[in-house]
Amino acid sequence: MTAMLQISDLVKSFHQPGGGALTVLDLPRLEIRKGEQVALIGQSGGGKTTLLHLIAGLLVPDTGSIRIDGTELTRLSEQGRDRFRAAAIGYVFQTFNLLPAFSALENVKLGMTFGHGQHDVSRAKDLLDRVGLSDRADYRPNQLSVGQQQRVAIARALANKPKMLLADEPTANVDPVSADVVLELIRTTCREEDVSLMIVTHDMEIASEFQRIDKLDEINRAFAASHSV
Ligand SMILES: Nc1ncnc2c1ncn2[C@@H]1O[C@H](COP(=O)(O)OP(=O)(O)O)[C@@H](O)[C@H]1O
Ligand SMILES: [Mg+2]
Repeated sequence: MTAMLQISDLVKSFHQPGGGALTVLDLPRLEIRKGEQVALIGQSGGGKTTLLHLIAGLLVPDTGSIRIDGTELTRLSEQGRDRFRAAAIGYVFQTFNLLPAFSALENVKLGMTFGHGQHDVSRAKDLLDRVGLSDRADYRPNQLSVGQQQRVAIARALANKPKMLLADEPTANVDPVSADVVLELIRTTCREEDVSLMIVTHDMEIASEFQRIDKLDEINRAFAASHSV
């Protein structure tokens, strides 16, 4: 079996502040192969972040199946999902989410804490080196440019040798030149580490770098339903 991610009949709705429920996602099928790199493009509000949260086990679907490398996420308890995420998933946020009181190197090491339970300092240093920041290991996030902060976040997300990296608009908050660097670093390090990559974006310029571009708004029945008059 070469599938890394297999989603079928996935439905997620939210209670609305004004009452009632809104179905955000209704995905019949989405698959990613091992080592594959996919850009999922979709409108703002189209459910991209929700989908990544479901795949990371931070949210649970109403119905449907999410299988990652053979593990059915929806059968796990909350604690089981936390463990699975720590061991198998890397996550790069739009806003980096680095811990401000810690150095770049410490932030990368923190990506290892909940996984195999050990800090592999040489791997943390190697990852910082590979994102071009070996000379910034002792800098705190506020002493780094935003592009550098996102590069630390990439190193942290890969620290635990995940099976899959999820990246949520990872270049949206960096300048265009750094955006190219950040995107290329994500792609190269995933390739080198044999990590499957799913990046979500509303930006066609970013998506067009990828061989496989999936259009969320077309495969998401909930979007189609809310946008047909
Ligand atoms: N916790 C929540 N409660 C209610 N509605 C939510 C919640 N999270 C997201 N939504 C709604 O779900 C839709 C999709 O949001 P999101 O997944 O963040 O979209 P995207 O990342 O594509 O911009 C939006 O309409 C948003 O308002
Ligand atoms: Mg989003």
